[in-house]
Amino acid sequence: MNQDATTLWHGRFELGPAEALQALNDSLPFDRRMFRDDIAGSRAHVRMLTDVGLLTSEELAEVLAALDQVEAEIATDEMVWEPTDEDIHTAVERRVTELAPAGAKMHTGRSRNDQVATDVRLITRRELSDTIALVLRFQKVLLAKADEAIANDWYLPGYTHMQRAQPVMLGHHFMAHAWALARDIDRLAQALVRTDVSVLGAGALAGSSLPLDPAASAGYLGFAKVFDNSLDAVADRDFVADALFGLSMLGVHLSRIGEELILWATEEFGFVGLDDAFSTGSSMMPQKKNPDIAELARGKAGRLIGHLTGFLVSMKGLPLTYNKDMQEDKEPLFDAFDTVRLTLLALDGMVSTLVINSDVMAEAANSPYGAATDLAEWLVTKGTPFRDAHGIVGELVRRALGGEATLAELVSASEHLGPEAARILEPGAAVRRRTTWGSGGPDPVVAQRDRLTAQIESDTARLVELDSARLAAESKP
Ligand code: ARG
Repeated sequence: MNQDATTLWHGRFELGPAEALQALNDSLPFDRRMFRDDIAGSRAHVRMLTDVGLLTSEELAEVLAALDQVEAEIATDEMVWEPTDEDIHTAVERRVTELAPAGAKMHTGRSRNDQVATDVRLITRRELSDTIALVLRFQKVLLAKADEAIANDWYLPGYTHMQRAQPVMLGHHFMAHAWALARDIDRLAQALVRTDVSVLGAGALAGSSLPLDPAASAGYLGFAKVFDNSLDAVADRDFVADALFGLSMLGVHLSRIGEELILWATEEFGFVGLDDAFSTGSSMMPQKKNPDIAELARGKAGRLIGHLTGFLVSMKGLPLTYNKDMQEDKEPLFDAFDTVRLTLLALDGMVSTLVINSDVMAEAANSPYGAATDLAEWLVTKGTPFRDAHGIVGELVRRALGGEATLAELVSASEHLGPEAARILEPGAAVRRRTTWGSGGPDPVVAQRDRLTAQIESDTARLVELDSARLAAESKP
């Protein structure tokens, strides 16, 4: 039993906390990361307290100066942490009060329950914005690869069931991943909107008997909205789950990109070569060049999904309002942001330095069987019902695979098809026949490229808009 310890609740307790309780209970090791948010929240709170007459302007100046100093001490690692600093809120308040007597008024009308919810919202809002910016950056890498592929007319087989299906332009393939990321941006932006709600003024759970002004606190922090219900305000961590889902879905997309790069870099596929700086070697086998970044992108998705499911399980049984279980929100959330950031940065480098083996891709795509659907569609243009056309071409494919003759020879000799149709089997011909909206042929891919560019531009503008109130609040002294 640690009898010397001064807790925030020492008035009610005869004895201090047991060491085992402290070790389990303390969140400082991981919530220290929110110190700037905690201090920003306190600044907003004391300004509001001054607005409503609960602090004098002298007391406000004193507390703000102390908050500045504490922020500097933590930022420069000069802060001396005490064993009783159970979390960042306790530590900041303790130090502010040491520096300024008026610090004892800082917690007026506030609980750690509305305080921690505020801090987690502030850090989530910022990290979501940073993540969106990184996703936009990676989209531009994919767009640049698409441009390189478009300029060179590169194409490859598209796959279903991991079987060669129909040839498509390589730019089409790169942009497919970028469109998935556009949905991630939308999800993360929506999570940001639901995060952007101020809960300061909800108190422990029931609000306050003091004349608090939650809208004023919200304004100081640049939050878009104010809570409607104090119980919900301190009990709600939906925004954490939203962020974790958005990050998991993004992680799943990065994992699928990773899986493809792993396949493409195999000797069996040989579609791409990896840059030395973004691949690893083997300690034993001198010939190896390994796609570790892509494998980690695939592996990290498991960790992200684990954070989401673990957090939802922590929340699912909790009655209103705050319960200490909710302290479990931070580690998965912070780790998810860190994991996604590292993965995106590494994939950025890996994809931008990919060497495209366009001849290998073209050779794989030029297999005449990849044009079988186009042959059937050619018959359709001559009036044959598609089901019959499918049967006619299917039979020729079966005979060609059986070794009777090449598919081109059989097509040329066919009473239904003939030499004009056989030209569809020439290298690079089939992919040019893809002309419909959003399809994988050269012209629609160029049109799609413009839409993707516009999407990236509008998402960039949306992020500026989402960030504007936050940045304005952060830049005020
Ligand atoms: N460290 C706590 C957390 O992260 C802060 C809130 C504590 N609230 C309380 N009533 N004990 O959730």
